[in-house]
Amino acid sequence: MHDHCADDRNSRNFASLLRGGGARIVFHQSATGGTVMNEPRRVEHQQTDKGYVPVYTTAIVDQPADYPADDHATWGALYERQRALLVGRACDEFLQAQDAMGMTPDRIPRFDALNEILRATTGWTLVGVEGLLPELEFFDHLANRRFPVTWWIRRPDQIDYIAEPDLFHDLFGHVPLLMNPVFADYMEAYGKGGVKAHGIGPDALQHLTRLYWYTVEFGLIDTKDGLRIYGAGIVSSKGESLYSLESDAPNRIGFDLERIMRTRYRIDTFQKTYFVIDSFEQLMNATAPDFTPIYARLEKQDAVPAGDVREGDTVYTRGTGEGWADGGDV
Ligand code: PHE
Ligand code: FE
Repeated sequence: MHDHCADDRNSRNFASLLRGGGARIVFHQSATGGTVMNEPRRVEHQQTDKGYVPVYTTAIVDQPADYPADDHATWGALYERQRALLVGRACDEFLQAQDAMGMTPDRIPRFDALNEILRATTGWTLVGVEGLLPELEFFDHLANRRFPVTWWIRRPDQIDYIAEPDLFHDLFGHVPLLMNPVFADYMEAYGKGGVKAHGIGPDALQHLTRLYWYTVEFGLIDTKDGLRIYGAGIVSSKGESLYSLESDAPNRIGFDLERIMRTRYRIDTFQKTYFVIDSFEQLMNATAPDFTPIYARLEKQDAVPAGDVREGDTVYTRGTGEGWADGGDV
């Protein structure tokens, strides 16, 4: 079910590339050298941590000079709706960064303009891509403080849900926190950790991926005003912005590195469990140690189902489990 709409998108994108419309492929030389293929490759329909979704070319692409009016309108509609929801729900760092970057509902932001601000703030650079990248390419970008942003935006009929990341998810959801110095460092450290985990093996990679999922994508943060959202997968979703904070169904559990690394997750429904950090500093400090011995230890332990509450958990709220789908944890 995850790629039902992807084929259209895929052929549309490649058709537009071939026509010379849309985005333009730019040769990309890996900065770390040796670990990543230098030639852009087209790879498709791979099983990834986000399920069976298309992975496109590994090339860097230029953002198109402009987008059709419909695309700007999709951005505007999503932006207005989410901002209205997120005031009082997303953390201040996120909302303030969006304003500081000059993101508005008026039109799809220019990567170049955002890059000027990011460069001066935390030194990150946005690079345009066709879509999900293979793991190692993705890690290599992060390790070098480059954040890959999908250049195309979803169609109007996909406003409420799209299985794969698009420009709205990547830009609206992920980019603002790259303005936060601590979070910016965390993302780079994650990229470096990813290159390392990739070298260790698939189990290490799976454990690291769960950390990304439960922090960067679906993280909550405890603030003086109560729980707030910082995860990109939540802030880019109307339904999950409400559900993650207000529903009685999910568990909300204090951040615990090894607990998270053992915990399966959902890719097709709202999360059964959200993990709560106290601060970005806590996240940074907890993930600073070398994970190599942790991976070795975790290999001998069973995974925790997405909805379980375990002894030793710091429980903010224990979910009722209402409406949870059986099985299907990744
Ligand atoms: N300390 C981790 C390691 O040794 C790297 C890392 C940092 C991973 C931050 C994720 C987040 O692998
Ligand atoms: Fe994402």
